[in-house]
Amino acid sequence: MSILVTGGAGFIGSHTCVELLQNGYEVIVVDNLCNSKEESLRRVQDITGKSILFYKVDLLDQMHLEEVFQNHQIQSVIHFAGLKSMGESVKIPLRYFHNNITGTLILLEVMKKIHTKNIVFSSSAGVYGDVKNVPILEEAPLSVLNPYSRTKLMIEEILHDVIIADPEMNIAILRYFNPVGAHPSGQIGEDPNDIPNNLMPYVSQVAVGKLPFVRVWGNNYPTPDGTGIRDYIHVMDLAAGHIKALTKLDQNPGLITYNLGTGRGYSVIEVITAFEKACQHTIPYKIMERRPGDAAISYADPTKANLELNWYTQKNLEDMCKDAWRWQSQNPSGYP
Ligand code: UD1
Repeated sequence: MSILVTGGAGFIGSHTCVELLQNGYEVIVVDNLCNSKEESLRRVQDITGKSILFYKVDLLDQMHLEEVFQNHQIQSVIHFAGLKSMGESVKIPLRYFHNNITGTLILLEVMKKIHTKNIVFSSSAGVYGDVKNVPILEEAPLSVLNPYSRTKLMIEEILHDVIIADPEMNIAILRYFNPVGAHPSGQIGEDPNDIPNNLMPYVSQVAVGKLPFVRVWGNNYPTPDGTGIRDYIHVMDLAAGHIKALTKLDQNPGLITYNLGTGRGYSVIEVITAFEKACQHTIPYKIMERRPGDAAISYADPTKANLELNWYTQKNLEDMCKDAWRWQSQNPSGYP
């Protein structure tokens, strides 16, 4: 029995493939490589000494997707594939809706046809929108601030309807906070196409000399040092959460939703300082105006995942920065 990983060549996907292989699963990856490189999978195989079956297939291509399902006994699907830039989604919303929503609809259609019942869906803390209270519980009100997050929320809602129609399905919705870091080997990591939008990859690129300074989006938030606070989570802890979710799905829980975060927030300045320690030189930064749509503080209450999945994060901010730095310094231009 195999696990089909959509978007498995991407940042979180590739790290999850490592965990899957190391936990004895057979892994099939489907990825259109629109925002990732096959090299990541080659390196996953190097790290684990195990092999992955890879299909360069777009989820919008139903015929080829069906072939993959027909040729293998797929027990569960982990669904990462999707466009993920919040800023870009504001500019090209229709592409985001078509790619993320239609791609998921086709995947679900094929799963229905082949009777594959288990799916883990990668959602985002973006579904909590304008955060009012922290820590954020799964029951917090949902709202969205951009089309990217709307695709995540819409897919969550679609999954709620899908399971009503087919109660034999098992669905885990995982809401990620801020995934950062890299595999401790430094062989795989985050490889943004353009100038990064997110803090940690931006800081990494300043540290390695590719960008001149970090732009700190506002230092007048109601936080101890005035800069925004987020729940950064090491990508290997996040990957481990997917293995726990898969195990849970074997117990036929129906639809389950979990926050995957550490439960602890760090400010932008704290992240820069921790990264300086990891790379052992100073990282220049400038205070800028606030970025529109940014919350002051966001961090998870991960208690539900702790108790129900027996999932606990192991890595701290120092590990996240050390591992991100190892990846960035060994691969200054990302994957070849
Ligand atoms: C962002 C997205 C969110 C997406 C998430 C994925 C926005 C508004 N939100 O969330 O939709 O789900 O990434 O990880 O883009 N910061 C700087 N300078 C930078 C970059 C960031 O000061 O160059 C600050 C931000 O103001 C924020 C913190 O760093 O306080 C984290 O930002 P970021 O990494 O972009 O993540 P989110 O804003 O949480």
